[in-house]
Amino acid sequence: MIKVDHITKTFNGFTAVNDASLEIEKGEIVCLIGPSGSGKSTLIRCINGLEHPETGKVYIDGEELDPKSGNFAQIRRKMGFVFQHFNLFPNMTVLENLTLAPVKVLGKSQQEAEDVAMKYLQVVGLVEKKDEYPNKLSGGQKQRVAIARALCLEPEMMLFDEPTSALDPEMVLDVLNVMKELANEGMTMIVVTHEMGFAKTVANRVVFLEDGKIVEDTDAKTFYENPESDRAKDFLSKVMY
Ligand SMILES: Nc1ncnc2c1ncn2[C@@H]1O[C@H](COP(=O)(O)OP(=O)(O)OP(=O)(O)O)[C@@H](O)[C@H]1O
Ligand SMILES: [Mg+2]
Repeated sequence: MIKVDHITKTFNGFTAVNDASLEIEKGEIVCLIGPSGSGKSTLIRCINGLEHPETGKVYIDGEELDPKSGNFAQIRRKMGFVFQHFNLFPNMTVLENLTLAPVKVLGKSQQEAEDVAMKYLQVVGLVEKKDEYPNKLSGGQKQRVAIARALCLEPEMMLFDEPTSALDPEMVLDVLNVMKELANEGMTMIVVTHEMGFAKTVANRVVFLEDGKIVEDTDAKTFYENPESDRAKDFLSKVMY
């Protein structure tokens, strides 16, 4: 479903992603893990088409993701993206945040868009907040709205870049539970996360990056119990205590 073929992305001569290759099948949950600056965000942004690698290619459902190609926007629409910071429109209610893009981008009627929005507010457990403005919501609630907003575009896969790292600890679980539910329903997911518990229990695979390189790509159990590379061992010894 997603194929990353030897991509390299540099910023002013600095190599952020270095010859990375990766294949993700439908329904897989893949966690991207690695030290700060290792290229996790850059890699997931290349997959989503927010950054463009200088060499190598990204394929989604067999189609090349190429900003110069006519189907670029259409391919990108298959992917929902959730950032660390929620980027909700502050001057719109929750429901307005959720219906904006489906009406503008997908051409849905307002009624249709609201029906879909209510369905996903149910999924994230926030139906009663539909008429609130974002500044009345907690961080965890905002992030769940952001997830619902991405789902309203009915993506085939969801990409998350540290969705819980800006949240207070007691709100992390609510967001992770929503993600777990999506995983259980068969959503294909790539998740950059430092939440080892999530990676361990929900992920099928862990991809470990260091200095822009994929140094390990293995099932989650093997990664945590028996990592192959010294770099992964060293990383785990610092984060598991
Ligand atoms: N737009 C940019 N311009 C210049 N350098 C960048 C840019 N984006 C990322 N980099 C550099 O690329 C490297 C990889 O960054 P990236 O954000 O992908 O790391 P990360 O693994 O997501 O780190 P973190 O865990 O801190 O989020 C870093 O050294 C960063 O400074
Ligand atoms: Mg990052």
